[in-house]
Amino acid sequence: MSEYLVTSATTLDGSTVDIEIADGVIDRIVPAGESDPEQFPADRRYEADGRFVTPPLIEPHVHLDATGTAGEPSWNTSGTLSEGIDIWATYKRDITAEDILERATRTVEWYAANGVTRIRTHADATEPSLTTVEALLELQSRVADIVDIQVVAFPQDGVFTDEENEDLLREAIEMGADVVGAIPHVEHTREDGVTSVELVCDLAERYDRPLDVHIDETDDPQSRFTEVLASESLKRGIGERTTASHTTAMHSYNNAYADKLIRLLDESNVSVITNPPDNSVLQGSYDDYPRRRGHTRVDELRAGGVTVGLGHDSVLDPWYHYGMADPLDAAFILVHYAHMAGRNNVPDIWEMLTAANAEIFGVDEYGLQEGHEGSLVVFDSPDAFNALRTRAPRTLVLREGDLVAQTEPAEVKVHREAGQKAIDFHR
Ligand code: FE2
Repeated sequence: MSEYLVTSATTLDGSTVDIEIADGVIDRIVPAGESDPEQFPADRRYEADGRFVTPPLIEPHVHLDATGTAGEPSWNTSGTLSEGIDIWATYKRDITAEDILERATRTVEWYAANGVTRIRTHADATEPSLTTVEALLELQSRVADIVDIQVVAFPQDGVFTDEENEDLLREAIEMGADVVGAIPHVEHTREDGVTSVELVCDLAERYDRPLDVHIDETDDPQSRFTEVLASESLKRGIGERTTASHTTAMHSYNNAYADKLIRLLDESNVSVITNPPDNSVLQGSYDDYPRRRGHTRVDELRAGGVTVGLGHDSVLDPWYHYGMADPLDAAFILVHYAHMAGRNNVPDIWEMLTAANAEIFGVDEYGLQEGHEGSLVVFDSPDAFNALRTRAPRTLVLREGDLVAQTEPAEVKVHREAGQKAIDFHR
């Protein structure tokens, strides 16, 4: 099986095509109307009727061990990153694998319904029993039918803030974590932060793992660890597999320093991930008015040749109480907070959601092309702009030719004096 025919779907470049999938791979992409539906079983055909289609979406940054815990044991009232860390520290004292698996599975199913077939999740590797890491590694096999998961060994409380944490990080990697993480801006001193970056670069080389570091996630313009990560990655030649997550302090750097750093990131091939839902509420929370937005310099990074991915970071946890596990929600926030509301920014946003996230995840042969994986998402929208504007329902999600999710769009009727009228919010 693993065959499917999607007819009359509109791609990002505006062309309308039929997509034929055979043996889990895109066999042919032809102008709409050229495929023969009779070659496919009735339950393996979908008439897109002009709807927008993309390759499958990717979530490059989320915390599935904490997802679904918002309000437990308390709500984050200050809106700060540090209060979120404190609340999570209390929650994780009594955490169990089944609790994590139940919450994480629910969020993964939400992601799948929203067209996501790959997720990179961080697992707190400072939780002393490493139940967090164990559970998320177990999650990989439990949801393998719908989503591929990468687990990052992430030292949430810092590597050198407790004498146990360095050993816990190594243990998490040896348990099978796919990616090595760090959080230098949470270490007690600048020097410890620098050493933590050097340490995780050593570990990434020794264990042959990619790196994904929470870095400079603060409004403090003196927080300058991204330069260390980029410099080390450049010297060691590991930049292609290294990601700097957040880099929100870049918002507050002076322009001369930001320019130097963006050049270094480009030279080192280190990627950046911005996480608009969290950064829109966490950053600027110590400010009086005017309040900074606190997002990294997405436009300047992209113009400087740096790959910038787009993540959610949190779904219903102590750092961000909202969230539907939908990359389009994250994109919609970025449109506003990063001043990316120009019509010319529409392809930029979709490039971040698809190709940039795929590059960071390490997907080979990604995209709607013959010979690539037979995976795609159909949106209840005529085009890329309206899909983003309405955060359109995903009417069909396929993964290697198999059905992952379907959504029946809501029927909306307005009752006028002249009678009821169906509307769809499309222009
Ligand atoms: Fe994060």
